[in-house]
Amino acid sequence: MRALRICGGRPLCGSVKVHGAKNSVLPILAAAILASGVCVIHNCPDLTDVDAAVAILRHLGCRVCRQGETITVDSSTLKRMDIPDGLMREMRSSIIFLGAVLGRCGQAELSFPGGCELGPRPIDLHLSALRAMGVEIDDTHGSISCTGTPRGAELSLSIPSVGATENAMLAACCARGVTTISNAAREPEILDLQRFLRTLGADVRGAGTSTVVIRGGRRLHGGEHRVISDRIVAATYLSAAAAAGGAVELQGVERRMLLPVLDTLREAGCTVFGDEHTIFLRQRGLLQGVSPIRTAPYPGFPTDAQPMVMAALCRSCGVTVFVETIFENRFRQVPELLRMGADIRVEGRVAVVCGVPRLHGARLKAPDLRGGAALAVAALSSEGESLLTGLHHVDRGYARLERDLCALGAEIQRITL
Ligand code: UD1
Repeated sequence: MRALRICGGRPLCGSVKVHGAKNSVLPILAAAILASGVCVIHNCPDLTDVDAAVAILRHLGCRVCRQGETITVDSSTLKRMDIPDGLMREMRSSIIFLGAVLGRCGQAELSFPGGCELGPRPIDLHLSALRAMGVEIDDTHGSISCTGTPRGAELSLSIPSVGATENAMLAACCARGVTTISNAAREPEILDLQRFLRTLGADVRGAGTSTVVIRGGRRLHGGEHRVISDRIVAATYLSAAAAAGGAVELQGVERRMLLPVLDTLREAGCTVFGDEHTIFLRQRGLLQGVSPIRTAPYPGFPTDAQPMVMAALCRSCGVTVFVETIFENRFRQVPELLRMGADIRVEGRVAVVCGVPRLHGARLKAPDLRGGAALAVAALSSEGESLLTGLHHVDRGYARLERDLCALGAEIQRITL
C-alpha cells in the first residue's frame, strides 16, 4: 500500500507553479470529439482522471497522443458511440462525454457515472436539458440510451450545475438552431470550455455569466488551446502555507478566480497579495477563526476548497462555522481531523471548528479527493509524523502534490507500507 509520510511543523517557503485545471481539461477533452480536425491541448495535468478521459477517447476510436503536458486528439477516427460501465465508473465527469458523443453521432449509450462519495450526485439536469433539445433518452436499468440529433432549445437549469451546463454546451454546438442556457454555472472552467469551443469555430457566447448562448450547426475544425490553471490546487497550497506558516509564491494562477478563498485567508491573519498571475502568502503564528464560510456556486466560496481551508483553521484561535450548501456529504475529512486532535462538531450541513493550539500526527485515510488534500494540509501543521493512505483519491486531482510541497520545504514522501 502506498502512503504519504508527512513530518509536520515546518514552515513552507518558496515558489511553485500550479498545474492545469482538472475541471477544465476533462470537458475540453470531451469537446475534442466535436472537431473534425486535430486538437492540441496544452497544460494537461498528469492525473488519473485525465487517464480515464483519455481511455474513454481511445475506446471511442479517437487517436490520442500524450507528450508531457500536451495531449493531441484526432477524433476523425471515432467509430463508437458507447462508453462501457467500467470506464463510466472511473470518474463522475465521464458524464460530460454524453453531450459530445450525442452531438457528434446523434446517438449515445452510457451507464451512470461513478464518483458518488460526496452524497447523491444526480444527473437529472443533464438529461432534462438533452430531452428539451429533442433527444430521446431511456435511462432505466442503470444505463442511458440516447437517440436523436439535438436541436436548439431554451434551457433553464434549476441549479447552476457545472456538468449540466457543459453537457448542454457541447450538445448545442452540433444542434440546429440557437440554444440558450439560463441559470448556467459561471465557473471559470465553463469560460475555458467556451474559449476552446470558439477556437474550434463554434459560436458560443456568455460563458462566465448566467446566460450562455450557442448558435449550433457549424462544422468545427481542429485547434490549439492551453488549459487554465487549477484554482483548487492553488487553494490547497495556500491553505497548507497558512496552516504551517511561512512565505510562498504561487505562479501561473489567476488571482481573481480565488478571491473568496484569499479573503478568508486574509481574515484569518495571513498577508496575501499578488498580481494577475502570481499570489504571495505569508503567515506567522496561529491563524484566527473567521466569519462563517458558506460554500456557493462561483463566484462564491468553492465547495472544493472547503475541506482544505477547514483543515488550516483546525489549528487556530477562535471558532469558525462552515456551511456546505452544494454537496450533502462534504465533511468526510472531519473524523480523520478529530484523530489529530481537532475540535469539530458537525450537524447536517454545518460544521463548527473550535480552533486548538496544536494538532498531532496520526495514521490517516483520505476519504475522497479534497478530503485527502485537507488531511495533508492538517498533517503539515501538526506535531510529529502522519501517514496518509487512500492516495488513489488524491491522485485524481493532484499531479505533483508531494513534489510541489517538497519544493516549498515540506518533509513529505511517498512510501510503500
Ligand atoms: C463540478 C466539479 C466539482 C465541483 C462541483 C461544484 C468538475 C469535473 N467537477 O462537479 O469539482 O465540486 O462542480 O462546484 O467540474 N445536481 C443535481 N442534478 C444534476 C446535476 C447536479 O441535482 O443533474 C446537483 C448536485 O447534486 C450538487 C449541485 O447540483 O448538489 C452542483 O453539482 P454540479 O455543479 O453539477 O457539480 P459537478 O458538475 O458534478
